[in-house]
Amino acid sequence: SNGSSQVKSGANRLSYSDKTILAPMVRVGTLPMRLLALQFGADIVYTEELIDWKLLRSFRRVNDVLGTIDFVDETDGTIVFRTCSREREQVVLQMGTSDPQRALKAAKLVENDVAGIDINMGCPKEFSVKGGMGVALMADIEKAKNVLETLVSGLRCPVTCKVRVLPDVDRTVAVCQTLAMTGISAIGVHGRTRDERPQHSNRNHYIKAVANALSIPVIANGGSKEIESFEDIKKFKNETGCSSVMIARAAEWNVSIFRKEGRLPLDDVIKKYLVLSVDYDNNGSNTKYCVQNMLRELQETPRGKLFLEAQTLEQICAIWGLGDYCRARQLEFKAAGLLGRREICP
Ligand code: FNR
Repeated sequence: SNGSSQVKSGANRLSYSDKTILAPMVRVGTLPMRLLALQFGADIVYTEELIDWKLLRSFRRVNDVLGTIDFVDETDGTIVFRTCSREREQVVLQMGTSDPQRALKAAKLVENDVAGIDINMGCPKEFSVKGGMGVALMADIEKAKNVLETLVSGLRCPVTCKVRVLPDVDRTVAVCQTLAMTGISAIGVHGRTRDERPQHSNRNHYIKAVANALSIPVIANGGSKEIESFEDIKKFKNETGCSSVMIARAAEWNVSIFRKEGRLPLDDVIKKYLVLSVDYDNNGSNTKYCVQNMLRELQETPRGKLFLEAQTLEQICAIWGLGDYCRARQLEFKAAGLLGRREICP
């Protein structure tokens, strides 16, 4: 069947140098957004952060109707992670973890279906930090190293991590060097400390110092406030001395930021996003959340208000003239015996 027979040889192992990357974003980085980022020219797409124990509570299921591989929560039937062959060589699954063995077990479950595994060492949210995950790992470097070493030696796919800078530039470089020695293939660096918020300016010179000190690719992150065009991505590369960059908010707002030819009007992006949401039977509330983050202040317009009232995927689609398309596809899925998350439960 799909996926598991694809044993990776060294030759087509994912390279992280000179890449433009969709950053990991909770709720935003689900399959339709990742596929649209790839359509627009992103080289690598990260999933939203998936917590190790949630993955471990799921089972793998090939979905022949949608052409996807689903990891289905065995307790409530929800889709924890949906992927497909189109992204197989470019998707990196980001994991939240605080335990080396649990991380390895969870990664083993998905390793034949993804191009790489990334460990989140940057999330400052209480949920993560309290559980010893995210940025808490940067305060426990022995554990962080242990997680990465365990994954590097136990997996066939490349392993990376994503960190935040520390208040001191030399400490930041030292910690990244220590992490790099575990055998990871690249490191993503967000140029804000754990206490800095998105409105703070990004410490591009810290990222540059890390890039200068390390021999593995350093992926610059945190530049979205200054990224409004493809040219701005190049500028961010230059300022950080990195050949790879990872973009979160600028892609959340308009994912056609990855287009070399320039961004598309938002309505075109929304329509393409909705078609993918329909084709991959994306959860309606997830689609609504993502479109809401694209609309931003446009939610105040009459159409925006109509959108906020929409309760189903079909109602959302209807606002962009795709209501019939949505209904027809959903009927097809139903006829094929697989509609919605509930009905795929065993
Ligand atoms: C994030 N970020 C994030 N980071 C991470 O490592 N795992 C995650 O799941 C998330 N989730 C997430 C959701 C949303 C809605 C946003 C806006 C951000 C942080 C993100 O990857 C990135 O580090 C920062 O947003 C800074 O990069 P930009 O936005 O300046 O490109």
